[in-house]
Amino acid sequence: MKPDNHILIIFGASGDLTKRKLLPSLFELFDRDMLPERFVVLGVARTKFTGEGFRKEQRENLKRFLKSGEPADKTLDSFLERVHYVALDTDDAREYRLLAEKIAEIRRTEDIPDKLLFYLAVPPQNYERIADALRETGLNRAQEERGWRRIIVEKPFGSSLETAQRLNRHLCSIFGEDEIYRIDHFLGKETVQNILVLRFANQIFESLWNRNYIESIEIRAEETLGIENRGKYYEGAGALRDMVQNHLMQLMGFVAMEAPSAFDAELMRDEVAKVFRSLHPLSPADVIRGQYVAGEVDGKPLPAYREEQGVNADSTTETYVAMRFYIDNWRWGGVPFYFYTGKRLAKSKSEIIIHFKNVPHRLFTGMCTQDSCNELVLKVDAPESISLKFGLKVPGSFFEVKRVSMDFAYDSLCNTYIANAYERLLLDAMQGDSTLYTRTDALELSWRFIDPIVRAWAEKPAEGLVFYPAGSEGPMPQGDQGDVLCAK
Ligand code: BG6
Repeated sequence: MKPDNHILIIFGASGDLTKRKLLPSLFELFDRDMLPERFVVLGVARTKFTGEGFRKEQRENLKRFLKSGEPADKTLDSFLERVHYVALDTDDAREYRLLAEKIAEIRRTEDIPDKLLFYLAVPPQNYERIADALRETGLNRAQEERGWRRIIVEKPFGSSLETAQRLNRHLCSIFGEDEIYRIDHFLGKETVQNILVLRFANQIFESLWNRNYIESIEIRAEETLGIENRGKYYEGAGALRDMVQNHLMQLMGFVAMEAPSAFDAELMRDEVAKVFRSLHPLSPADVIRGQYVAGEVDGKPLPAYREEQGVNADSTTETYVAMRFYIDNWRWGGVPFYFYTGKRLAKSKSEIIIHFKNVPHRLFTGMCTQDSCNELVLKVDAPESISLKFGLKVPGSFFEVKRVSMDFAYDSLCNTYIANAYERLLLDAMQGDSTLYTRTDALELSWRFIDPIVRAWAEKPAEGLVFYPAGSEGPMPQGDQGDVLCAK
């Protein structure tokens, strides 16, 4: 079923997220006929575009950023007819009158009901101000009986438990909890949703999914990319806030949760929150932080983090985090979980690796004598795949065991278009489905978990910071850090 006719209002319309992700995703949805019949995207930003100027700019961006290749002019024209723009200073509540007028005009001319979806694609320091201004203009409440309001809030949602709670309280005083969609784009990724199906639709996996059969679990999100042009943002965030508190925690929630009694948004989110509630408190010794220094990839020199634009010359912000932690519950007691994430590493790799225990008695020689042969690898980044590793006899040998891999590649499902994360999540919010969005309790619990580390690092900014060359595998174990880096 298609979503209701509505207007999507994007704050931060002249920014990077809009041009790289949001508009290309909306175009793909449009091209696949998944958007409602009467639907308008209204861009809002400070830049003084006219509607025509904005459309012209976005036409070029779409040609550049659409993953499915350059679109036909006709389709592009019909999509852009639905794109409007209003220039206003989002810091100045008085200017929101212009927005209200524009919305009223679009609703009148396009015959759209009182259904508005707001998207905050702006720096987080603007969230509260925009929400306040929406309240002052009365745009936060639907006037029609069957109207609705929804607001999508980008990450980072707060920078500590305290700030996240404050922001939650503030937004909840303006919108209802069920109207707030805290986006974590990792949850829109196909393989991530597939964790649930793999676990809860397959007896063979679910029956092994516990401390009796699993040795450890590794979750990685490693990137060759640096911080791009986001020095200012990254300085205040670092890898812990940029990747761990949200993306990696959410992946872990799906891997570790119990089966909900039904596939229902609230029941699912209850289970994720329960996992977060069972996390064993972290101590700084369980977390390693690194920062890249100058290095090279394929003979091309790369600057140090401290030389990047917008970064302090003596910055102690981490661009790499490795951590080990435990979940104190019946299923996971004693099983170590590892997170690895970093920028400017040798390879880009986002995956979840389930390491199964070794057999109790080893009969054969070969590579699996020390470690277990059995691993399940869920590759989260494109091309998405799932691999099951197990031991087999090397042909012709005596009884030598070799680890082999049975691989399923998502793109082998012919004719199946794999939607990107933003397409999926935008469509969900348009339909009022919050299953793949983060609820307040889970969000606050994830901050509660990493807050001791945030505080410890703020108190002693340089302590324990290790350096690694850009383009390398990341920090090498030093002293007793070996245990945390051992799953590498
Ligand atoms: C973003 C982070 O949320 O996720 C970026 O801010 C990171 O630093 C990105 O590069 C990774 O997402 P993806 O989908 O490209 O793996």
